[in-house]
This record gives sequence, C-alpha cells and structure tokens, in this order.
Amino acid sequence: LALACDFACNPEGVVRTAAEQLGSFPVFVKPCSQGSSVGVAKANNILELAEGLTEAFKMDSKVLVEEFIDGHEVECAVLGNEHPQASTVGEIAPTQEFYTFDAKYKDESSRLYIPAHITGEQLETVRQDALRVYTALGCRGLSRVDFFVTHDGGEVVFNELNAIPGFTSISMYPKLFDYEGIRYPELLDRLISLALEEHHG
Ligand SMILES: Nc1ncnc2c1ncn2[C@@H]1O[C@H](COP(=O)(O)OP(=O)(O)O)[C@@H](O)[C@H]1O
Ligand SMILES: [Mg+2]
Repeated sequence: LALACDFACNPEGVVRTAAEQLGSFPVFVKPCSQGSSVGVAKANNILELAEGLTEAFKMDSKVLVEEFIDGHEVECAVLGNEHPQASTVGEIAPTQEFYTFDAKYKDESSRLYIPAHITGEQLETVRQDALRVYTALGCRGLSRVDFFVTHDGGEVVFNELNAIPGFTSISMYPKLFDYEGIRYPELLDRLISLALEEHHG
C-alpha cells in the first residue's frame, strides 16, 4: 500500500520500496477506491511502475501495488443480510491484456462463462470464500465478490468486493442469480425486502 503523502515527498523511494517488496514484475497498480478499472495499470518494469503510481495518485490518496495473478478471473454474487446466499460462479475472459475500462464498457469482445471454467471443488471454494468475505466486511443487501483461480495450482485468490456491482440486465450479478432460477424482477423484490428488513431492524 502506498500513500500520496509519501509519494509526494519521495517518489523514487516509494517506487523502489514497492518493487523490492513485490520482488518481481509484472505488478498491478490500482487506486484503492476506484472502480471500472479506472487508473489500473499492469507494470512490467520499474519505469511503468513509476508511471502507474503517478497516474493512480491522481485518483486516490492510497494506491495498491499487487503481485500479478495469472488465473481465471471469476465472480460470485452474494445476496442477503444476516444469512446471505452465494450464487454459482461466473468467469470473465477478457480479450485484452486484462479487464480494462474499454473491455468493460466499450468493446463487447470479453467472454462471460456461467458457470466458470474451473473445477467443481474450486467453484465451491470460491462460493464459501465469497460468503466469508461478505460476512467479514458486514455487507448487507448485495455484493459481488471477485477472485482469481490461478492457472498453475488452482489457488483461489480474493481480488476485490463490489458493494454496488453492475446491475443492468446483462451484468454478471443478475445473470448469476438468473442461473440460480431467480429472475431479474424477483431479484429486485428480494433486494427491496432486504433493504426494508435492514431498515426496520
Ligand atoms: N493482481 C492482479 N493480477 C492480475 N490482474 C489483475 C490484478 N488486479 C487487477 N487485475 C485486472 O485488472 C482489472 C481491474 O482491477 P480490479 O481490482 O478488479 O479493480 P476495479 O475496482 O477497477 O474493477 C481486473 O478485472 C483484472 O483484469
Ligand atoms: Mg474489478
């Protein structure tokens, strides 16, 4: 985690420390509280890391530098308050180098697989981990919890939680619950009931 105040005082020091702590390239640079891949960069060397940090600090005062995870990019939809339920797991297969802003909103070439192309055991681990993350963070109503399942070894790695996931009729969240037999109108009814329950509780 890199902080804007440190980067402002000593940019080279922050770049060097991040590179040393991660140990190898590529790395991912991400503003902490952005979304839609805005400000996210894959850095293949120290120069790209410095560029990535400079760009990311334009959007946030906290920036994450992470190990690059080579894996299936998978997502699990969670619904509920006290007793949340997890959907099946979906997979995004971007045709670009990673799931960029353009890949999300401008070109339609990314593929979506429901269920994800992972083993049944990995799918179950993702669902259980999604519920653990949701509960640990005290989420209510809905969230989409995103993971990688590594190509080498099948390890399940938590990436991020989206408290306001995409919710158009073609978004992953409603598609995952549609697969579970919960159609879009019913999903809306469930969310309204959960919000009322939370409010009255
Ligand atoms: N550590 C990582 N290793 C590999 N790819 C990553 C990593 N972090 C992010 N990505 C790629 O960047 C995209 C956007 O990053 P993400 O953490 O999901 O932020 P956002 O909140 O903008 O969606 C991901 O969908 C994935 O394609
Ligand atoms: Mg994301």
